[in-house]
Amino acid sequence: MSIEDSLGRPLRDLRISITDRCNFRCTYCMPRENFGPDHTFLAKQEILSYEEMTTVVQSLLPLGLKKVRITGGEPLMRKDLGIFIAMLRSLDAEIDIALTTNGVLLKKHARQLFDSGLNRVTVSIDAMDVEMFQSITDSKNTPGEVFAGIETAQQCGLRVKVNCVVKKGLNEEQIVPLVDACSSRNIPIRFIEFMDVGTTNNWNLESVVSGEEMRQRISNHYGPLRRNTAKHPSDVARMWSLKNGTEVGFIESVSSPFCGDCSRARLSAHGSMYTCLFSEKGFDIRGILRFGASSQEVAELIQNIWTKRDDRYSEIRGQVNTERQPVEMSFIGG
Ligand code: GTP
Ligand code: 5AD
Ligand code: SF4
Ligand code: SF4
Repeated sequence: MSIEDSLGRPLRDLRISITDRCNFRCTYCMPRENFGPDHTFLAKQEILSYEEMTTVVQSLLPLGLKKVRITGGEPLMRKDLGIFIAMLRSLDAEIDIALTTNGVLLKKHARQLFDSGLNRVTVSIDAMDVEMFQSITDSKNTPGEVFAGIETAQQCGLRVKVNCVVKKGLNEEQIVPLVDACSSRNIPIRFIEFMDVGTTNNWNLESVVSGEEMRQRISNHYGPLRRNTAKHPSDVARMWSLKNGTEVGFIESVSSPFCGDCSRARLSAHGSMYTCLFSEKGFDIRGILRFGASSQEVAELIQNIWTKRDDRYSEIRGQVNTERQPVEMSFIGG
């Protein structure tokens, strides 16, 4: 069975934020001015337990769920992630389980994650240059540590992709070095247009480098790119290939939105369901979970939410109220 929203889109993909904490303070996501020592993160009792999150996944399997992505904050900051992955895997042998991470803790955890049933990881990295990396992430870590994590993940059998957010005047010069680093390791890399998510990143249209501009820069260096056919209509990245076969993708939600096929629901660490990355509010699921609801009852609640869904923010960005207060990206994951 599958359920459809009011625009005919199924719910295939659940993205679960398991923590709102992160070991980085990327300037465009968790700037230290807003996420400093006095920032209040969620308290332990506010955060869904792994059992509660597993019940939500279990409730969605009969409704057509095919993919679970674990995000944060930085999901590797939460203890015992392997246990959660094993709980999800025991629900369904086939479901695609992916993890979004900044990669710093990956070397330490990759083996256990793979053994627990994780299929793949998507690692975010925005610069190869050490100084620039440290300035963007506001950390003392290095791209070398991230690539060490990536290599361990590959050796363990995890499939790896890399994501890079490109912001005008900040890291455009890093596009080619990042393609080089991924190409030599046989990793698909996807470049993301800087988006107006959350309220703290001072977004404006001038700071967006379009996918088209990025492709121009890449083809100036590597020669013409060839467009690949889409694997699934709800994929966010449009993939292209370099002459040497390296896959390079572009997530063009500003210049070329993809809401028409959006089948993604998001569950925050404190148990609210968001039907769009740009939602201002979520729907509480934690309440009924803590009242002991069965997975069937949770399914009924989510079905109710999903069938009313009409979000298509990226398509109508220019027409909506600029005073909106969308939820922070670090709170519901990317
Ligand atoms: P795959 O399963 O590997 O295809 O993953 P994915 O591309 O669905 O997920 P990923 O987390 O790698 O997405 C990459 C980035 O695309 C995210 O970090 C966001 O910046 C952006 N993105 C993902 N989903 C959406 C969405 O529904 N809307 C918008 N506007 N951007 C999205
Ligand atoms: N625009 C685009 N991508 C973003 N991310 C965080 N903030 C933004 C933004 N404003 C990306 C991160 C990571 C993923 C979780 O989301 O860089 O790749
Ligand atoms: Fe950076 Fe990701 Fe952490 Fe945000 S959640 S600060 S993008 S590492
Ligand atoms: Fe889906 Fe909202 Fe992103 Fe459009 S803007 S693709 S509806 S999450």
